[in-house]
Amino acid sequence: GTEQNRSKICRNRNFTRHLPDIIIIGVRKGGTRALLEMLSLHDSIATAQSEVHFFDSDDHYQRGLEWYTSQMPLARPDQLTVEKTPAYFPSVDAPGRIFHMNPSVRLLLIVRDPVDRVLSDYTQVFHNQLQKHKIPQPLEDLLLRDGELNLGYKAVNRSVYHPHMQRWLRVFPRESFHIVDGDTLIRDPLKEMKKVERFLRLEPQITEDNFYFNRTKGFYCLKEEGHERCLHESKGRTHPNVAPEILQKLCKYFQEPNRKFFELVGRTFDWK
Ligand code: A3P
Repeated sequence: GTEQNRSKICRNRNFTRHLPDIIIIGVRKGGTRALLEMLSLHDSIATAQSEVHFFDSDDHYQRGLEWYTSQMPLARPDQLTVEKTPAYFPSVDAPGRIFHMNPSVRLLLIVRDPVDRVLSDYTQVFHNQLQKHKIPQPLEDLLLRDGELNLGYKAVNRSVYHPHMQRWLRVFPRESFHIVDGDTLIRDPLKEMKKVERFLRLEPQITEDNFYFNRTKGFYCLKEEGHERCLHESKGRTHPNVAPEILQKLCKYFQEPNRKFFELVGRTFDWK
């Protein structure tokens, strides 16, 4: 009735912007958007919808915390705010700058099989180029130089996680991070989101009723108060086929970087 309405209006008046309590720092093409959207299913979470690029861009950083705060969503005092900018993970400046803002901020990193991440990264650039009316280079031309794997190709380099993780761990203790398995998030989102809730010490709220598998999209979509929504069509794209010899080169190349990453974070992932 009216009383309920009034209390809702009063609650709305308490909405303000505050610095993020949680930051999704990467990785690019790891499933960062899916993670953000799935987090926003929780009533205690308010999310910034666009990538803010505050800590990786000198231009933005110079605008100061007041500007950064203005980029945050309106939130109730009891809500935690989250932003996601995958460019933070490889940024040399981001860890120190974030620590300076709040040494107890909670960091989410979503990783994915590095080989799949390469293909996803390529597909993203491919579509961006088409949009700009440029002709994309074939993947195999980018992956190989004189028959060997081209380590100078950005998409390959970006799938080497351990040097970045090492830099972050020089600034933040391991307990500040929760690492989300991006491959599991695709196949079994609820399982991963329960772990995220636990890490963030949120009341368990996300349930199987929040997800349904959309056969047309080939991915899970979200259900919230009876309303269904899938991620944008740019999420969950078809990847190009790659010759088995080249895939094998990629898998072999990532073995050592992957081992180093597992050692740094104290757990393993089910990567080829
Ligand atoms: P692909 O489009 O290559 O499959 P990011 O948001 O960091 O750019 O990551 C994009 C990736 O999120 C997609 O890469 C997709 O695999 C993954 N993803 C995870 N869960 C998803 C979901 N429910 N719907 C669509 N994409 C999802």
